[in-house]
Amino acid sequence: MLNAVERKIEQYISELNDAHVLSLYKKLPHGKRLRTKLILKIAGNSLKVIKTASTIEMIHVASLLHDDVIDNANTRRGVISLNSSSGDKTAIMMGDILYSKAFFELCNISSEVARVVSNAVVQLSLGELADVELSKKFHTNRDAYLKMLYQKTASLMEASAESAAILAGKPRYAYRQYGHNLGMAFQMIDDILDITSDSKTLGKPALHDFFEGKVTLPYMYLYEVLGDDDREYLLSLYRKRLSEDEALWIRKSMKKHHIIEKAYLEAKELIHEVINLMESLGESDLSNIAKEMIEREF
Ligand code: FPP
Ligand code: MG
Repeated sequence: MLNAVERKIEQYISELNDAHVLSLYKKLPHGKRLRTKLILKIAGNSLKVIKTASTIEMIHVASLLHDDVIDNANTRRGVISLNSSSGDKTAIMMGDILYSKAFFELCNISSEVARVVSNAVVQLSLGELADVELSKKFHTNRDAYLKMLYQKTASLMEASAESAAILAGKPRYAYRQYGHNLGMAFQMIDDILDITSDSKTLGKPALHDFFEGKVTLPYMYLYEVLGDDDREYLLSLYRKRLSEDEALWIRKSMKKHHIIEKAYLEAKELIHEVINLMESLGESDLSNIAKEMIEREF
């Protein structure tokens, strides 16, 4: 059924009657389609569900196109990013096209679903701006960071699960909670993998978050346990292209202070909460998706 979503997205883009836009879209790498998987598992595969998943994936792709311009990223999912191959203007407009076509289609699906999804996109945009602001200087503001994570990543997963529940006539708030926790845990694990994985596995440079100015939870926790001299050294590495020795120092210090375990445990708790919730609703597939997330390696 994932295929039906791919075909629907291509149909939507073909309807724009613009060969250039279609060819640009076809060159974009497909992601894991995690939002689609959630939606289909919650709501089955009726046409309305396929359409909803397609519009949400288009919005997600649009947000990543814009994000790569904002982050000045060269790669996305292991291949050259559109901003890098075709320039910022093309990437921004391609994002705008995908986003607006998705909304045009959403209006024909269900006004309630359109309301939930459009609210999530407002959160997404607020989150991206907060991310930009929080990346300007080193901070240890955990609450601000978690709020930004919710807005930037969890809000669209939450909206995906809630929309699917609306379409399936299931209890929307339970599924919303599922999407929320999954989204938060997903981003927290992403932040951990940025530190623990290598560039090849990530499809982007490793330890890149700190270079981009992103003070993720592991860096905050590390800062909190370090003595004055080490704190100063950590701050000197902020936004810097790291040498191998510097990268090794970060990894070793995190290991010494069990930082990764601490951050991972937080993600795990969110996941366990929804595993229990989904099991109580008899949704074993959804609980398995949550289980797989904490075993994710890239
Ligand atoms: C990736 O973050 C970015 C997001 C998940 C959301 C970006 C949202 C916007 C640009 C607002 C979109 C607005 C519209 C109208 C579509 P990241 O840079 O931490 O992760 P990465 O490593 O995948 O780049
Ligand atoms: Mg980015």
